Amino acid sequence: MIYFNNAATSYPKPDIVIHDILQNLKKPPCSLYRENASEDSEVITCRNLIAKLFQFRSPQRVVICSGATEALNIAIHGLVKDNGHVITTQIEHNSVLRPLYHLRNSGRIKLDIIPCKLPGNILFEEFTHAFRSETCLVVLNHVSNVTGSVQNIEEIYEVCKSHEIPLIVDVSQSAGVIDINFSKMPKAVLAFTGHKSLLGPRGTGGLLIGEEIDLKIWKTGGTGVRSDIETMPDLIPLKYEPGTMNHPGISGLASAISYIMEHGVENSARKRIDLTGLLYDGLNELSGVKIYSETPQKNYCGVLSFTMGRISIREIGYILRESFDIILRVGLHCAPLIHKTLGTFPEGSIRVSFSVFNTHDEVKEFLKALRIIKDMC
Ligand SMILES: Cc1ncc(COP(=O)(O)O)c(C=O)c1O
Repeated sequence: MIYFNNAATSYPKPDIVIHDILQNLKKPPCSLYRENASEDSEVITCRNLIAKLFQFRSPQRVVICSGATEALNIAIHGLVKDNGHVITTQIEHNSVLRPLYHLRNSGRIKLDIIPCKLPGNILFEEFTHAFRSETCLVVLNHVSNVTGSVQNIEEIYEVCKSHEIPLIVDVSQSAGVIDINFSKMPKAVLAFTGHKSLLGPRGTGGLLIGEEIDLKIWKTGGTGVRSDIETMPDLIPLKYEPGTMNHPGISGLASAISYIMEHGVENSARKRIDLTGLLYDGLNELSGVKIYSETPQKNYCGVLSFTMGRISIREIGYILRESFDIILRVGLHCAPLIHKTLGTFPEGSIRVSFSVFNTHDEVKEFLKALRIIKDMC
């Protein structure tokens, strides 16, 4: 099988990740006879590794959760103010858009969505003019999961800081591929997922809470400590992590982050840029193909969207899977609004997304399959 759907979830996972998940499942569950699940060694190790990956000096402000969707919900609900105004962008994933639509549709917030230009970069001027006296939050996707376009988070952070408005950055695609120095962003929150470029298992991810950010609690429940009180104990990160944690997953995520750091974040990007370049050139030689992505040199995450003239994208996805055993994704990729700029709404695009484990030979096989499909249809 050729697997090109790594922006959805990466496959395969490093052997060490699988090994460590199994080892964790075989181990006695310490948190059930100790007081506090978040003090278990794999949880502490994972928190420290996440902090190290994002160059963050406060591991206790790293909250581990089930993925970017949960992390974004905790952050958005923890920072919005009733009757406040929120700024977000056209490149967002539904894990940002839907919580914000939900708040807007229940009358709690006003929402502004900053448009983007090709291949998916926000209109900076419009962004700087969107702030109002009621603005309480900005939410931004670092790298588009449709086109691989990268937003300049440092520049956007400075604008938010000058207005004293907290910024939530969704680094689901960039974590483990682009270096991020979170210690320089005390008024921001990062939300990441473990199962994409970080090569961890599904159902893992988390939140880094900047040192000058105070998040209201959104999710409540058991913590194993202070069971006598009605409220969540006022301890970070415990107060944001109610319920039984995904210990096997957290062990796997810790090994995955160690693996990424050992092999180098820059290598991870270099490999994807190289593969994207090969694909880009090959697609450009095919008549009728339209590419919507960031150019290969800047496509650090290796995400490329395209269409093939009048041939239906669903048909292409089906033939690739059934006849060539090539797995990729077709459709809107849970990010509907960016397709309005690309001109691919509502059908969407064919998306190839690479991981460090893909090869030149796989790209060549894929291009060969596309040529056959083109001749057939
Ligand atoms: C940009 C982006 N944000 C958020 C998510 C959601 O991540 P998770 O699956 O961890 O909830 C995804 C996953 O597709 C994504 O691509």
